[in-house]
Amino acid sequence: PVTEATATKAPAKTLAVPDAQTVTSVKHWTDRLFSFRVTRPASLRFRSGEFVMIGLMQTDEKTGKEKPLLRAYSIASPAWDEELEFYSIKVQDGPLTSRLQHIQPGDQIILRPKPVGTLVHDALLPGKRLWLFATGTGIAPFASLLREPQTYEDYDEVILTHTCREVGELQYGKELIDTIRSDELLAELMGEGFHEKLRYYPTTTREESPKMGRITDLMRSGDVFRDLGVPELSPETDRAMVCGNLAFNLEIKDMLEGYGLEEGANSDPKQYVVEKAFLD
Ligand code: A2P
Repeated sequence: PVTEATATKAPAKTLAVPDAQTVTSVKHWTDRLFSFRVTRPASLRFRSGEFVMIGLMQTDEKTGKEKPLLRAYSIASPAWDEELEFYSIKVQDGPLTSRLQHIQPGDQIILRPKPVGTLVHDALLPGKRLWLFATGTGIAPFASLLREPQTYEDYDEVILTHTCREVGELQYGKELIDTIRSDELLAELMGEGFHEKLRYYPTTTREESPKMGRITDLMRSGDVFRDLGVPELSPETDRAMVCGNLAFNLEIKDMLEGYGLEEGANSDPKQYVVEKAFLD
């Protein structure tokens, strides 16, 4: 029970949020998706494609003490950006996102400054064509990599595929691609000829759109390769990064192995890498 004594004592402690960063902007894309930007700790270095632990303070029901509630989130902004961007689902009964979805500019979140992850250039061997396969919020690490000059320096062609249930869920990716294609400062940063290298292949599965179907089915049928005018993946020329829901990751992993690609890691770069998208 909260007595007056504990109630008046508590705030001094609870206000000390560890590793606090300040929210600078929030954008709601659908009733299930939002993105936000926060200040970047001056000391934070990361490689585009990596993730960090972020979250909010919560009260432990048993002890009544405040403790951090953290989840892994891909950094959606590139390594050169002054701020950090994140892209998140909203789960109405999710422990973190049920609260995180209500953040406003000026609020504080916790951000542990220890970036890690496998969706990085270092985990892939050099190649000709880079495939970025995303479902849902799995596009986040690729939003970082697609704004990273090295992505275009290392490859002749960069193909982003994004599969979502509904058209509205594609909007974050669509605006990202539009910005990359039209922003002159970004163009300068990315280097000459990068526009021609970037291909975008959005598909939906539960709402009518110009391209319908799961990316895995569209690969099996050959649609993707016909539509883009590229050959099927091969271990000599193609590299892939995968980020989506668990079932998708497992299925496409199998397919990539079928094309002859092998899974790489930071310490052992190969032809493809996989990471699970955040789910609250
Ligand atoms: P579908 O609508 O056919 O389930 P979610 O929002 O559940 O994370 O799903 C995001 C997208 O990933 C949806 O379009 C969904 O298609 C698709 N998806 C789910 N499982 C797979 C899978 N095993 N292979 C390919 N796509 C999948």
